[in-house]
Amino acid sequence: MTLYLIGLGLNDEKDITVKGLEAIKKCKYLYLEYYTSILQIKPEKLEKFYKKKITLAGRELIEKRADEILNKSKKFDTALLIIGDPMSATTHIDLFLRAKEKNIKTEVIHNASILTAVGITGLQLYKFGKTTSIPFAENYWALETPYNVLKQNQKQKLHTLFLLDLNPLENKFMSINDAIDILLKIESKKKNKIFSKKTKVIGCARLGSKKPLIVYDEAQKLMKKDFGKPPYCLIVPGQLHFMEEEALKK
Ligand SMILES: C[S@@+](CC[C@H](N)C(=O)[O-])C[C@H]1O[C@@H](n2cnc3c(N)ncnc32)[C@H](O)[C@@H]1O
Repeated sequence: MTLYLIGLGLNDEKDITVKGLEAIKKCKYLYLEYYTSILQIKPEKLEKFYKKKITLAGRELIEKRADEILNKSKKFDTALLIIGDPMSATTHIDLFLRAKEKNIKTEVIHNASILTAVGITGLQLYKFGKTTSIPFAENYWALETPYNVLKQNQKQKLHTLFLLDLNPLENKFMSINDAIDILLKIESKKKNKIFSKKTKVIGCARLGSKKPLIVYDEAQKLMKKDFGKPPYCLIVPGQLHFMEEEALKK
C-alpha cells in the first residue's frame, strides 16, 4: 500500500497531472490539505471530478493526528492532496518521514507551485532571495522576520517574495493592502529605510488561474487597489535587469 503526496497545481480540478490522477483512482482514502493554500474552485468540485469523497484536513489533523492518515495508508492506498506542489513552501516532509519510519511506501507527485509561478511577473527566479511569509498576528509591532528577510535580500540586491497568511476554513485571507501596511508599521519602528510608501512592489493575485492580476507600482498605490479573489502574494524586487523591468512594465 502507498501513501501518495499529490500536488494539485494552482488553479482548478484540471491542473492535476496524469500521474496524480492515476494515483487517485487507486486510492481508498483522499485527504485535502486545506490550511496553506486554496484553488479557484471549491473542494466539492474535486470530489465530483475524482468521483471520490475527500476529507478536508486542517493543520490539527496533519500535524497532530497524522497517525489517522498513516494507519489508513498501511492498509489501503491513501493520498494527501496538496495545493501547489507537495514539497514547495510548506513541505510535508514531517508526514513523509513518519511514513518512512513506519515502513509505509510513499510516493510524491509534483506539480506547479507559487514558488515557480511568480516567474510570470518577468522576474528571474534565480534572482530571488529567501522567501518569507507575513503571518496573522495579534501584535504586528512585534513582528520582525519578514522585514529582516527583506533587509538581507536587499543587501544582495535580490527579489523578496512574501507569502501572505490565510485560513481557508474560516475564509480569512491577508490582503496585499494589509501586508504593505504591516511592512510600513515595522519600518516605522525599525527605521532601516528599506521600505516606504514609495517603494515599488508587485502585487499578485490568483497566479496560474485564467484571471490572474499582477500590478507593479508604488506601495502607496497598491494599498488602495482591490485585487479581487485570493490567494495573494507580494514581491519587493531587488535590482532589476532591464529585461525584467521591461516585462514588469508590460
Ligand atoms: C504556504 S504557500 C503554499 C505553497 C504551495 N504548496 C505551493 O506549492 O504553491 C501559500 C501562500 O502562497 C501564496 N499563493 C499560493 N498560491 C498563490 C496564487 N495562485 N497566487 C498568488 N499567491 C499564491 C499565498 O500567499 C499563500 O498564502
